[in-house]
Amino acid sequence: MLTTDKLTYWYTSADQALFKDVDLTFEAGYSYAIVGQSGSGKTTMVSLLAGLDKPRAGRILFADHDIAKIGLAAYRRQDVAIVFQAYNLFTYMSALENLLSAMAITNAAHKGDKDYAKEMLRKLGLSDAQMTKNVQKLSGGQQQRVAIARTMVCDAPLVVADEPTGNLDEDNTDAVIALFQQIAHEQNKCVILVTHEPAVAERCDAVIRLANKRFTWEKTI
Ligand SMILES: Nc1ncnc2c1ncn2[C@@H]1O[C@H](COP(=O)(O)OP(=O)(O)O)[C@@H](O)[C@H]1O
Ligand SMILES: [Mg+2]
Repeated sequence: MLTTDKLTYWYTSADQALFKDVDLTFEAGYSYAIVGQSGSGKTTMVSLLAGLDKPRAGRILFADHDIAKIGLAAYRRQDVAIVFQAYNLFTYMSALENLLSAMAITNAAHKGDKDYAKEMLRKLGLSDAQMTKNVQKLSGGQQQRVAIARTMVCDAPLVVADEPTGNLDEDNTDAVIALFQQIAHEQNKCVILVTHEPAVAERCDAVIRLANKRFTWEKTI
């Protein structure tokens, strides 16, 4: 589904590349954890995979198409859903409105289907009262579940998350990882998440470590 072809990135100069000539393949139906020390370049890598930034050299292919040719804006709208550490919800809306607007923006198959959005939120443990009040009144764990529910109601086949459990306690971390596994296995999407928590990485189908400017597989599918 997603392939990097000699992917190279640096911020300041080519001789200080964060990584160089990286070839990785990610498949639909599996979850992948990217691990590595702080400052090693994990966020940079997922930003490239999510089409938020352009490679310095090399390409990223989505279903065999160079995302630069698809156009990064079109790629982000149609093909990839992103979950950040800090939820990234519309703060002036309810959980339900957040899902409905994401479905409208991305032209999802279930666009406009309020019952479908409600059903998804119910499955994630939000009551009808909770889903219709402002998202800022929800706990951190609930807000992160809403951010994940938003990727579930949209059709993007690729889900990218940067430290999605970074702010959560153990129970909420468990719930969130279970959801990502469900997205990969039941919705047949490709889930790529960055984490510094070994317990989170362990529960993913595959683990890739970024160290010394190289990505190595610690666990393969
Ligand atoms: N916009 C930027 N300009 C210059 N350097 C940056 C920028 N963003 C990140 N960096 C540097 O690139 C390196 C990798 O950052 P990052 O991808 O955020 O790592 P990680 O997510 O693994 O902690 C770090 O040394 C960081 O300071
Ligand atoms: Mg980071």
